[in-house]
Amino acid sequence: MTFDLWGEQAHDDPLPILARMRAEAPVVRLFDPHQEAPEWMVTRYDDVVELLRDNRFSKDKRKLPDKAKDMYFRVSELDALDKHMLFSDPPEHTRLRSLVAKAFTPRRIRDLRPMIVESARRLLEPVRSRGEADVLEVFAFALPITVLAELMGVPVEDQDRFQGWTKTLAAPPDFDSLRRMAVEFHDYLVAFVDRRRREPTDDLTSALIEAEESGDTLDVVELISMLFLLIAAGYETTGNLIGNAVWALLSHPDQLERLRGTPALLESAVEEVLRFAPPVKNTIGAYPLSDVEFGGQVIPAGEKVVASLLSANHDPSRFADPGRFDITRAADKHLAFGLGSHFCLGAQLARLEAAVAIEALLREFPKLALADEPTRWKAGVFVHGRTKVGVTW
Ligand code: HEM
Repeated sequence: MTFDLWGEQAHDDPLPILARMRAEAPVVRLFDPHQEAPEWMVTRYDDVVELLRDNRFSKDKRKLPDKAKDMYFRVSELDALDKHMLFSDPPEHTRLRSLVAKAFTPRRIRDLRPMIVESARRLLEPVRSRGEADVLEVFAFALPITVLAELMGVPVEDQDRFQGWTKTLAAPPDFDSLRRMAVEFHDYLVAFVDRRRREPTDDLTSALIEAEESGDTLDVVELISMLFLLIAAGYETTGNLIGNAVWALLSHPDQLERLRGTPALLESAVEEVLRFAPPVKNTIGAYPLSDVEFGGQVIPAGEKVVASLLSANHDPSRFADPGRFDITRAADKHLAFGLGSHFCLGAQLARLEAAVAIEALLREFPKLALADEPTRWKAGVFVHGRTKVGVTW
């Protein structure tokens, strides 16, 4: 059986391939040509839920057999940026997550709203007279990078470099680019944290430096890794959510009209976009530390297992008529933000940014429509977003 999730058909529409996998091989060993390594994929909703709660799978690369380390983690320059929650298991994970929770509070996120509204307005202002644009280029990715920079206290003049690094990280052209990015990004963050230590402000970075629980604090590698994780996890993902939202709404004019007529549907529309076109298609993967049986298969120790969040969100056993984009459906059981102990830390921030972005676009451009331009799904193993979202108004 072959399921080519990396070929031409997947760029146009991966859903038929995923439907076939759910039916014929719901837990299956594939070969990821990007990593040149085997990768197990779990595609049914119930199995994904079980996998994400199964503590036999580890996210900590330090615990893996050498062979697995060589296969999946060959860019050692990333080591100094990798001591973070997403690559750790309890009790280390619990410790890191509770320290970050001291700084990354719901209140801090809520307080960002006026800044996000203002940033959206500033980004849309100069394009108004153009009549057409690629939403991804002028808006969707610019907003989250501005928000992250403001949240962390990074100067505006460094934002272009930030974009370059995070883009390389999300879709590395080759291993050498990834290596170079890791070194430059690391050096930048070291200098930045050092500056904040000497001159604290009210930003998240200063709060992370101060975060303490029972005398415990983040050491410098953990701090830098945490900042790196927030940027890596919060930029490309949120950019694609905004892009996918605009694409989904404009390609379903009846749903767009509904939202224009009933603005109170905004939150539920964001949830339906997260279900229908989740910006993260696969979890980053976890590794059994000894051979395990899962879904009727024996998965050897050290082989990577990923959950297809895109597939789970389109499993008809969980969501009736999953191919229908319906902003009034109760979509909140979607798995776009993962599940279990690694459930997305930034989910509320991402939802807030998307809601503000859609609100601003619909308000400022009453005649917004999709341009007649080809667009498909981007290549890549992790993010799920359109190559382009051309619009006219
Ligand atoms: C629409 C936007 C976003 C989506 C779809 C998304 C999705 C996810 C998913 C699926 C995971 C779990 C990954 C796994 O288990 O392999 C995750 C984890 C995480 N996300 Fe997000 N994310 C988004 C935005 C953000 C933002 C804005 C931030 C922060 C600024 C953020 C920070 C994190 C962090 C820190 C983790 C790791 C949590 C842990 O390991 O305990 N994410 N995200």
